[in-house]
Amino acid sequence: MLNKARRRKLGAHVAFVEHDIRHPWPVPDRAADVIVSNLVLEHISDLEPVFAAAARAQKPQGWLYLSELHPYRQLGGRGARFERAGRRVDVETHLHTVSDYVSGARAHGYELAWMQEAAEATTAAPEDVLPRLLIVVFRKAS
Ligand SMILES: C[S@@+](CC[C@H](N)C(=O)[O-])C[C@H]1O[C@@H](n2cnc3c(N)ncnc32)[C@H](O)[C@@H]1O
Repeated sequence: MLNKARRRKLGAHVAFVEHDIRHPWPVPDRAADVIVSNLVLEHISDLEPVFAAAARAQKPQGWLYLSELHPYRQLGGRGARFERAGRRVDVETHLHTVSDYVSGARAHGYELAWMQEAAEATTAAPEDVLPRLLIVVFRKAS
């Protein structure tokens, strides 16, 4: 995916870095206006080092946007998966509750700004009524 993204030649102001976010991030302190994480944290067992790294990299008053598969979905047996050579491959996932995200971020100086539990809700099927995504937006206090 990084190679595909690099081929788009988005300009000299855009840099792509491959990094394991469980370890200290190669980003200067207080550099980030906005941090976005989409469907990544369900693959991380311990969120604490990630919130610590985000808080260090984040500018005061900066935004942290998290979008994750809702824990209801995970409890219902829906996890990340893909197909390789016609075979289903399940990816390792870890269950985090809504309060794991909220308390974890607040412990590192973030304030909860907004939250949405988004359902697909196109049919009455139980799996569509339950929220598919949990979206949580935080603001760094200082
Ligand atoms: C379900 S994909 C989501 C990809 C993309 N963010 C999106 O929304 O389409 C999960 C992503 O989490 C990344 N990931 C999992 N564990 C990671 C880790 N420890 N550090 C950095 N990225 C990780 C994987 O490389 C993969 O790109």
